[in-house]
Amino acid sequence: METILVTGGAGFIGSNFIRFVLSNFKEYQVINLDFLTYAGNLSNLKDVETDKKYKFIFGDISDKKIFERLPKNIDYIINFAAESHVDRSIQEAGIFLKTNVLGTLNLLEHARSISIKKFIQVSTDEVYGSLDETGKFSETTNLSPNNPYSASKASADLFVNSYHKTHEVPANITRCSNNYGPYQFPEKLIPLTIMRALNDQEIPVYGDGTNIRDWIHVEDHARGIMTVLQKGKIGEIYNIGGGNEIQNINLVKSILSQLNKPFDLISFVEDRKGHDKRYAIDFRKIHEKLSWSPKIDFKKGLENTVQWYKNNIDWIRNIQDGSYLKIREQFFKG
Ligand code: NAD
Ligand code: DAU
Repeated sequence: METILVTGGAGFIGSNFIRFVLSNFKEYQVINLDFLTYAGNLSNLKDVETDKKYKFIFGDISDKKIFERLPKNIDYIINFAAESHVDRSIQEAGIFLKTNVLGTLNLLEHARSISIKKFIQVSTDEVYGSLDETGKFSETTNLSPNNPYSASKASADLFVNSYHKTHEVPANITRCSNNYGPYQFPEKLIPLTIMRALNDQEIPVYGDGTNIRDWIHVEDHARGIMTVLQKGKIGEIYNIGGGNEIQNINLVKSILSQLNKPFDLISFVEDRKGHDKRYAIDFRKIHEKLSWSPKIDFKKGLENTVQWYKNNIDWIRNIQDGSYLKIREQFFKG
């Protein structure tokens, strides 16, 4: 049995990743190290919490002391832990530096001090900046982050690369496009639209709504990361994408149609500062070298996602009324 240390496993992608690993692979056990920030929600993992191959450890990756409490027999580290919301980084960037850069550096130091098989840094296509109408981001596209969140993720990527080159930490970096699916915190466009539409509230669309994102189902992302864990060549960067480019306004309309809600809920609001125009991922490398491709059809995946939020309205309510935060209070009290 091999051990994967997942950081940030109580968040959106991390929790989906843990569920994916535990239900598809017998040969791994998972330790989830999470600080349960506003974005961390242990109820995302309710169905696996009694699994003998799963263990939760409360801790902050930007605090070096946490690593003394971790078991030494870790085979893989996958770093999902991050401050992940662009709008928050525009309001207050300091915590992005602390968690995303210092936290990653601490993890790399820890990886050096124990002998691991692989360190995977879960990065983002945002490190490449913004595209015009044409072209796609490849792994050799220059780093050109435009907001404090993507600047912190790009910095972390540079540290990962430097620890691989200088200290021979066996590392891969994955850079994925926008994820959608269950358990996404409702500050992000898709769950925010669903939540507000269900409550007949206005949907804020930034600028004229023509910005384009390239969407991938979170389970395809999880499978991509496992592919890199098992087959990725040490030192390489792999882009992961879904090949589903859509303008924000059309995405919002499609969700409203599915919910039988009127388009006049849409409210065009002031644009996000430094708003990246378009993301599009060229994922030929992971496809050709590691035989991975996205499997989940966007239309179907979006329909199932909308249905999931409708079926799990209590999950959203617990976030809205703040009751999900009660779980973390016991850890903060120690
Ligand atoms: P999220 O905000 O939903 O979850 C982040 C998790 O990290 C939470 O559980 C939080 O409690 C935890 N965390 C935050 N600070 C921590 C700290 N100091 N120590 C330990 N845990 C901490 O984020 P997400 O959307 O699931 O994204 C996960 C990762 O994937 C991030 O690194 C993000 O940059 C990257 N990514 C996200 C997307 C996307 O579309 N959401 C796309 C590409 C890459
Ligand atoms: O591309 C990968 C990135 O995708 C990840 O690295 C980030 O962690 C993740 O948050 C996401 O970033 P975006 O900024 O693209 O996602 P967000 O859901 O915040 O916004 C998607 C688009 O919708 C973007 O163009 C801004 C717009 N938007 C967003 C919100 C929250 C709106 O128009 N209205 C909104 O209320």
